[in-house]
Amino acid sequence: MTQSTLSTSTPVVFQAQNLHKRFGALHATNGVSIELHKGEIHGLIGPNGAGKSTLIHLLAGTLRPDQGQLFLATENITGLRAHQRVAQGLARSFQVTNVFNEYTVLENLLLAVQAATDSSFKFWKSRDSETQLLEQAQRLAQDCAIDASLWQSQAKHLPHGEQRKLEFALSLAADPVVMLLDEPMAGMGPDESLRLTELIESMRGKTSMLLVEHDMQAVFRLADRISVLVAGQIIASGTPDEIRHDESVKNAYLGDESTEAA
Ligand SMILES: Nc1ncnc2c1ncn2[C@@H]1O[C@H](COP(=O)(O)OP(=O)(O)OP(=O)(O)O)[C@@H](O)[C@H]1O
Ligand SMILES: [Mg+2]
Repeated sequence: MTQSTLSTSTPVVFQAQNLHKRFGALHATNGVSIELHKGEIHGLIGPNGAGKSTLIHLLAGTLRPDQGQLFLATENITGLRAHQRVAQGLARSFQVTNVFNEYTVLENLLLAVQAATDSSFKFWKSRDSETQLLEQAQRLAQDCAIDASLWQSQAKHLPHGEQRKLEFALSLAADPVVMLLDEPMAGMGPDESLRLTELIESMRGKTSMLLVEHDMQAVFRLADRISVLVAGQIIASGTPDEIRHDESVKNAYLGDESTEAA
């Protein structure tokens, strides 16, 4: 697996500034600012209950922040709803059921490609369009390493790992600028997990990804940069090496054992 050469000089494509979210007395997101550079894989780690999923919800638009701003490139998207953010290029995968279970893998992908095409090329209605859509759907299935023998299977009959790859492929159909991934490896066996790791790795440089993951080995291998969230606050951001050796991170979260394992 190659470590990236992306540097912080690549442009920022997504930015959250000073986000706050309270659930009653609980300050779940407490002044979070985070930046995603073009094409980077940005890991977000932190203990259970730190507020990682809440942050993903705030970024995706499935929760409204009490305070703070969000920018996709230079556009202020703070007021946009989740589906409007998707249309602007912000995709969210996993812990979201965007798979139609009764439809086959290819039918699901066709629908997703069609939806993306409709919103971006309303005028595009040539007689070859169906063939082109099908080719695009097949390419996605191939890129996401979905076993070709399963392309005609109903989504509900897919093994768990293939289901996850299909979800990933569906999120990619709209060619997103930014992809938010909340624990994509959850519930996967080691083989499936490795395949998904490779798939995420293959997207490096194309789509910027914010990756929440408890599998430290996967995060430290994949991420160009890592942010550490503890009790609703980002306590450190940096390269995997910087995070591994950061005293405050070691004390608050990682401990000696897991840093060595990573
Ligand atoms: N809708 C909600 N209403 C009230 N409290 C909530 C809500 N969603 C999350 N919380 C609380 O906010 C805190 C942060 O939760 P969150 O799910 O964001 O953590 P997390 O870092 O994703 O944890 P995990 O690693 O276990 O997935 C927790 O204390 C949780 O109980
Ligand atoms: Mg969570």
